Amino acid sequence: MTAVESTEAESSAQSSPLTVPPFSVISGAQVQDALRGRENQIMELVEATYRVHGAGDSVNPPSYFLLFPDRPTSRIIALPASIGGQVRVDGLKWISSFPGNVAAGIPRASAVLILNDHDTGYPFAVLESSIISATRTAASAALAADWLSRGRQRPTRVGFFGVGLIARYIHTFLAGTGWSFDEIGVHDLSADSAAGYRDYLQRADPAARVTVHDNAEALIRSSDLVVFATVAGQPHVSELSWFDHNPLVLHVSLRDLAPEIVLASTNIVDDVEHCLKADTSPHLAEQRTGNRDFLAGTLDDVMAGRVDLPTDRPVVFSPFGLGVLDLAVGKYVYDEVQRSGELHTIDDFFHDLRRHG
Ligand SMILES: NC(=O)c1ccc[n+]([C@@H]2O[C@H](COP(=O)([O-])OP(=O)(O)OC[C@H]3O[C@@H](n4cnc5c(N)ncnc54)[C@H](O)[C@@H]3O)[C@@H](O)[C@H]2O)c1
Repeated sequence: MTAVESTEAESSAQSSPLTVPPFSVISGAQVQDALRGRENQIMELVEATYRVHGAGDSVNPPSYFLLFPDRPTSRIIALPASIGGQVRVDGLKWISSFPGNVAAGIPRASAVLILNDHDTGYPFAVLESSIISATRTAASAALAADWLSRGRQRPTRVGFFGVGLIARYIHTFLAGTGWSFDEIGVHDLSADSAAGYRDYLQRADPAARVTVHDNAEALIRSSDLVVFATVAGQPHVSELSWFDHNPLVLHVSLRDLAPEIVLASTNIVDDVEHCLKADTSPHLAEQRTGNRDFLAGTLDDVMAGRVDLPTDRPVVFSPFGLGVLDLAVGKYVYDEVQRSGELHTIDDFFHDLRRHG
């Protein structure tokens, strides 16, 4: 949309009478139906959202971390955001991370997403959002893998370091957006996780050559594309020589790499202010050096051609995970469910709407 069209759209939206929107609840099953097999569309949507965010047509304040003194490994994070462009919606993701769940056989993360109407502010939908969150994270990782490997040899050996739900979604997105690999490496501290992921890979890609590595060094040295999706709270990979082959690293779990690895790499983030917080590896590198000179730019800078990516050092993508991506994917799901006629609206959710009764 041009600036003139956008102004016209805005004034026509303003001139139509404001009404209270219906309120809907969208289940995880509906979310999955709306997203399944749409990897290319969702990756394009995430790319467009990064561009809108990069152009400043968004509000994405810092996430709020609710931490518990009695449950130090758990947290619930609030990500409020507003996105303009064609999506034009406000909202909030409220996502829990309880790593202890995994031992009980239920996922670590659970979440809801609230979408708010741009014109009235009314919340008009609540969506199950662990799938939306995993999907936008995986789409962002696949987008970064694509852009950051242009100009270097496209990786043919991928290594997954930490293999839970996010690693599964990232593999699905890489495969769904055209990647195929000669070799797939797997490493996890938990033998059960590694075995479960290998089973998933054998179902998803029966022809793949899968190797489970029981040590981190072997995984990294044998991979041109390394995907970190652990739940490590502090760096556990610090040996620079493991990266001598200058791999592309998708550092999705953000806290695996020691500052010396970060400082020896070309660093791309999704958003500088977001990423340099909460003791992420780039944040530790900033604390170590007292500056941000080690950052090459954002993925939006890369897509706009504002950053060069030398091939003689590792490239590390550290995405903090932006609320605007959840909104864009959530609104896509809402539109799909509405189009299919399957929207479950809650009658009379908003009630007592006459100011004076
Ligand atoms: N950056 C983002 O936008 C974003 C979005 C969503 C999730 N995440 C992150 O992705 C990570 C993975 O999430 P998940 O839902 O897949 O978690 P999960 O609990 O399902 O899986 C994590 C796996 O990592 C393994 N692991 C933990 N520490 C390890 C280590 N030091 N070495 C090797 N393996 C290790 C665990 O055994 C487990 O199998 C989390 O850290 C989460 O915060 C990031």
